[in-house]
Amino acid sequence: MVVTSPRSPVRSTVGLKAVMAVTGIVLVLFLVAHMLGNLKVFAGQPSFDHYAHWLREIGAPILPGVWFLWILRVGLLVAVLGHIAAATALARRARAARPVRYAHRRKVRGSYAARTMRWGGVIILLFVVYHLLDLTTGTLNPVGDPSRPYANVVADFAPARWYVTLFYTLAIVAVGFHLRHGLFSALRSLGQQTPRGERRARLVALLFSVALCAGYLMVPFAVLTGLVD
Ligand code: HEM
Repeated sequence: MVVTSPRSPVRSTVGLKAVMAVTGIVLVLFLVAHMLGNLKVFAGQPSFDHYAHWLREIGAPILPGVWFLWILRVGLLVAVLGHIAAATALARRARAARPVRYAHRRKVRGSYAARTMRWGGVIILLFVVYHLLDLTTGTLNPVGDPSRPYANVVADFAPARWYVTLFYTLAIVAVGFHLRHGLFSALRSLGQQTPRGERRARLVALLFSVALCAGYLMVPFAVLTGLVD
C-alpha cells in the first residue's frame, strides 16, 4: 500500500535521494582521503606514523586532544546510518509501488542491482567492524599497538597471513562494486538523460571505482610481496 499522508520534505522520495547523495558524497570523500593517506606507507615508517599521529592532533590547540578525530568519527557514523536508513526506506517504497513483481525485464534488472547493493553494503559494514578491531583498536592485529600504525599494517599483511590480504581484497572489491553502482546512479540523475549521457556516467563511475580499489589494494600487496616491510 502506498502511504499518502503528508510527509516531511526529508521523508519524500526526493528528500531520501538527497540524503543518499549527501551521505554518499561524505563517505566517498572519506574513502578518497583514507586511500591517499594509506599510500603514505610507501614513504616509509616515520612518515606514515607521523601522519597517523598528526590525524589525532588536527585542530589543536583550539580543540583539545583528539576532539577533531571524534568529530570526524561521529560525522562518519551519522553519514553511514543516514545512508542505510535512506536506502532502506527507498527500497521499501520501490517495492510497495511495484504493482506486479518481476513481470518485466527491467524490473528484474533493477531488483538485481538493489540486491547487490544491499548485500555489498552488509559485507562492507562487517569489514569495517573487523577493520576497526584490527587497525584502530589493535585487538585482532599481531602487533596491535595503536601508536605504531606502520608496524600494525606490515604485520597484518605479512605473507604468512595471506588470508587477511584475501579478506581485505574481497572487501575492497565489494566497496568498488558498491561505489560503481552508487556513483553511476548519482551521475545518471545529475547528467544528461540520454544514452550517451548514461554511457558517460557508467564510464566515469567505473574508472573512479577502479582507481580507488587499485589505490587501496596497493598497500596489502606491497607488504605481501615484500616491497614494504
Ligand atoms: C588496504 C586497505 C586499508 C588499509 C591499509 C587501511 C588502514 C587503516 C589504518 C592504519 C587505520 C588506523 C588509523 C589510525 O587510527 O592510526 C584505519 C582506520 C580506519 N579505516 Fe582503514 N584501511 C584500509 C581500507 C579501508 C576501507 C576500504 C574502509 C572503509 C570501507 C576503511 C575505513 C576505516 C575507518 C572507518 C577507520 C577508523 C578511522 C578512525 O576513526 O580512527 N579502511 N585504516
